[in-house]
Amino acid sequence: MKHFLLLVCLQFLFLPLCAKDRTIRPGELWLDNKGVHINAHGGGIMYHKGTYYWYGEHKAENTSSALVGVTCYRSKDLVNWTNCGIALAVEDQVGSDIEKGCTLERPKVIYCPRTGKFVMWFHLELKGRGYAAARAAVAVADKPTGPFKFLRSGRVNPYCYPADWNEADIAQCKALQSSQFTEWWTGPWREAVSQGLFVKRDLDGGQMARDMTLYIDDDGRAYHIFSSEENLTLHLAELSDDFTYHTGRYWRIAPGGQNEAPALFKRNGRYWLITSGCTGWAPNEARMFWADSLTGPWTQVPSPCRGENAKLTFNGQSTYILPVAGKPDAFIFMADIWRPKHPIDARYVWLPITFENDTPVVAWRDEWSPATFWD
Ligand code: GAL
Repeated sequence: MKHFLLLVCLQFLFLPLCAKDRTIRPGELWLDNKGVHINAHGGGIMYHKGTYYWYGEHKAENTSSALVGVTCYRSKDLVNWTNCGIALAVEDQVGSDIEKGCTLERPKVIYCPRTGKFVMWFHLELKGRGYAAARAAVAVADKPTGPFKFLRSGRVNPYCYPADWNEADIAQCKALQSSQFTEWWTGPWREAVSQGLFVKRDLDGGQMARDMTLYIDDDGRAYHIFSSEENLTLHLAELSDDFTYHTGRYWRIAPGGQNEAPALFKRNGRYWLITSGCTGWAPNEARMFWADSLTGPWTQVPSPCRGENAKLTFNGQSTYILPVAGKPDAFIFMADIWRPKHPIDARYVWLPITFENDTPVVAWRDEWSPATFWD
C-alpha cells in the first residue's frame, strides 16, 4: 500500500513534465505555463545562455493602445513558455513618452556584450497623437526579464544623409522642392521619393521610425531596421557600441517600396529580409529580398509563403525570424494574425523555414514540432 501511494505521488509529481506540449499550432490559442493565451504580439526573441526570451506587445481586450507595456516569456524548447511578467511597464505620469495609452509596438531585445546590458528598441507613438510621432524608443536592463529602464525616444539620424550617397545624390536630394510634389502616387512623385523627398523633409527633425526589428551582424555590430519616410522606405541604421544610440550611418532599402514588418536573417553568407506591404492590421502578401551585404544592394524576389492562404501570408504579418541556437540551417518565421477589434485575441503564426535551391520557403503547416530541429 505504502509503495502504491508513493507511486501515485510520483505520478502526480511528474505529470506536469509529461503534459508538456510538443507542437506549435499556428493560428490557434497558445497557452503559457499558467494556461493563459500568450500576450506578446509584434514580438521578437532573444537567445541568452541556453534560454529563449520572447518579448512582445501586451494587447488589451478592446484597444490597441498600450495599457501595460512589453511582456516577456521564457522557454527552452520554443513550445512551452513561462510568463516572466512585464519587462517594460508603461508609466502613469502624464506627459511621459511612454504614458499609459501610448502606442508601443514591435519591441525587440538584444544583449550588448560590451556593456553587459540588455537593450530594447521599439516603435513609439505618443499618447493621443495617432501615428504622427513615428519615433524609435530605447530601454535597458541588467537582466533579460527586466525591469527595463526607459532611456529616450525620438526621430532617427537628424542631419544625416544615407551613408552610401555620393555628392551628386546629396545635391539631387537637396534640389527637390516639396511644393512641386503635393500630389502623391504620380510618376514624378515616385521618382522624387526614391531621390529622397522625405529624407530632405525630415533632415533636421530626424527620420521617421515605425515598424522595426534589430539585427546583430557577425562582427558584433547591431542594426536597427525600420519603416521610414512615411512607411515608403526601409532604413537600416547602425547602432553605437553600446547599442543605445544611432551612429548617423544608415542605408535605404527598397526606396518607395512601402515595406513594413521587417524580419531579417542570414544563412550561408546571404542576408534575407521578409517584409509586408502597408495595409494596416489587414494581411497582405509577404515580400522577400536578399543581399550579400547588409548595406545592400537588396534584390526583391517572390514571397516565400506556400500553401493555404499563402497570398495573404497565412493571414499574418511578419514580426521576426528566429535562428534556432546551434543549428545553422534552422530558422523560424514568426508572424502575427491581428485582431484589431479584440487585440488580446491576436494569434501567432510560427513556421519553420526550409530552403529550395538555397532560397527560403515558408510552407503552411497546421501543426509542427521544433523538436525536429534537435532530434
Ligand atoms: C501595421 C503595423 C502594425 C501597426 C498597424 C497599425 O501595418 O505593422 O505594427 O502599426 O499597422 O494600423
